[in-house]
Amino acid sequence: MVVCVCPIAADVGVGVLKAGGNAVDAAIAVAFAEAVTWPEAGNIGGGGFMLVANGSMATFFDYRETAPALATKTMFADGKVDFRSHQSAGVPGTVRGMVLAHKRFGTKPWKDLLAPAVKLAAGFPVDAPLAKRINDVMKDPKTMNAEFKRIFGREWKAGDTLKQLELAKTLAGIADHGANWFYTGPPAEQLEAEMKAGGGLIRKADLAAYEAKERKPLIGTYRGYEIVAAPPPSSGGTAILQSLNMLEQFDPKKHPRHSPETVHLLAEVQRRAFRDRAEFLGDPDFTKIPAHLTSKDHAKKLAATIDLAKATKSESLAGAIPIAESGGDTTHFSIVDKNGLCVSNTYTLEMNFGSRIVVRGAGFILNNEMTDFNPIPGTTTRTGKIGTNANLVAPGKRMLSSMTPTIVRKDGKPYLVTGSPGGRTIINTVLCVLVNTLDYDMTATEAVDAPRQHHQWFPDRMSLEKGPKDLVEKLKAMGHAVTEARQGDAHTIRIDPKTVLFQGAADMRLNGKASGY
Ligand code: GLY
Repeated sequence: MVVCVCPIAADVGVGVLKAGGNAVDAAIAVAFAEAVTWPEAGNIGGGGFMLVANGSMATFFDYRETAPALATKTMFADGKVDFRSHQSAGVPGTVRGMVLAHKRFGTKPWKDLLAPAVKLAAGFPVDAPLAKRINDVMKDPKTMNAEFKRIFGREWKAGDTLKQLELAKTLAGIADHGANWFYTGPPAEQLEAEMKAGGGLIRKADLAAYEAKERKPLIGTYRGYEIVAAPPPSSGGTAILQSLNMLEQFDPKKHPRHSPETVHLLAEVQRRAFRDRAEFLGDPDFTKIPAHLTSKDHAKKLAATIDLAKATKSESLAGAIPIAESGGDTTHFSIVDKNGLCVSNTYTLEMNFGSRIVVRGAGFILNNEMTDFNPIPGTTTRTGKIGTNANLVAPGKRMLSSMTPTIVRKDGKPYLVTGSPGGRTIINTVLCVLVNTLDYDMTATEAVDAPRQHHQWFPDRMSLEKGPKDLVEKLKAMGHAVTEARQGDAHTIRIDPKTVLFQGAADMRLNGKASGY
């Protein structure tokens, strides 16, 4: 089964499974297909994380972008670097990430896995949601380069054909010659030329030096389930394990899921996990990440500070972080094959359509991931800017991510595969899906459809999807500031422990597809 945001790509993945490929083969084909058919986040010009698990095996492919050698600690400090600019792009990681995953687990020829993407790039029918999303982006033409306008700049309607001929050539080159061709061949020349023309920082040497990394996932437990989670430079796995460890000190099920008591408890847990995220998390190759963050003891201490009737002021948790005063569009897919091999993959261009810069001649959209670094050294604000050392810009460093691909196992068998887009809200979207399934025993669809909630420490405010009447008033009476906001789509697979049937939930918030056989 494949569940993802883009129906065409979901069917590409199932085609690979039906042809005898495994979940990683399917994931590679889906990732390249979405680089064509979901151009707002699917990519070869961005980066991401792939979590793979089966039985007692689990591993993690980190293909997060890196800062180029010319990047500096204070480049975003005076606010002069635009969020959608050549300078906001990090060195892309997706192509090397897919090659690494293929080397470790692939069973189908590399070229076969790229073939659907090459074909789609020559032209595919746009559906209504994609037409709307491109039309929305084109309303702000100042934020994009001329090549982006040439490819996407018209009024789209469902059924129109989107052709990306330069991208087709680049994908065909990757299919024929592999990752080195992309990182040292013509696309590297084209990317450097694009950067020099637009005042960007990435050079051929940055591309040649880029490495995807295989890392050990974080493994935690929650009420008898095993949680396989994303390690740094994702902040997601650490925050999820911390949150679940805190929740284990309580019994959320004492109250209905969307009662003020449970929503309050989750917000308090989220607030505390995000406070530690701000102080400690960054690229583990540059920053020492304290081991205690995911320990049960640390969670016990944090849980003891939660008042079940009253909101904590975020400022009171600041401790060593001096307080002076995200968006993010990304996409996630979940895959499980007939042998129980699970892939949870989240990848991104950062904001929707990334930097909105198409590399001339190479046809791919560049990320604006550099905006995930802390912008102003030393300045952490009440509005949510973070300035701690762990995630300051440095050449070659990976920017901290909130992407949280997650796999849950029970007694060594896969139980749940999930993840989401949505900047910092990703972590709490995943937490909601976990609590809904693990504590409240919801099916995949119920867990994904249920209203979600988010608290990220600063701003000191809870955001909620529309829930029961009176909930907001009751939360305000407990001392919470509350706003209403939609959270990201969580394309999820749950394996019913009794029937062993796969429940695929394509999120109703977008028209994705659960495709299986
Ligand atoms: N660009 C979204 C994230 O990595 O958190």
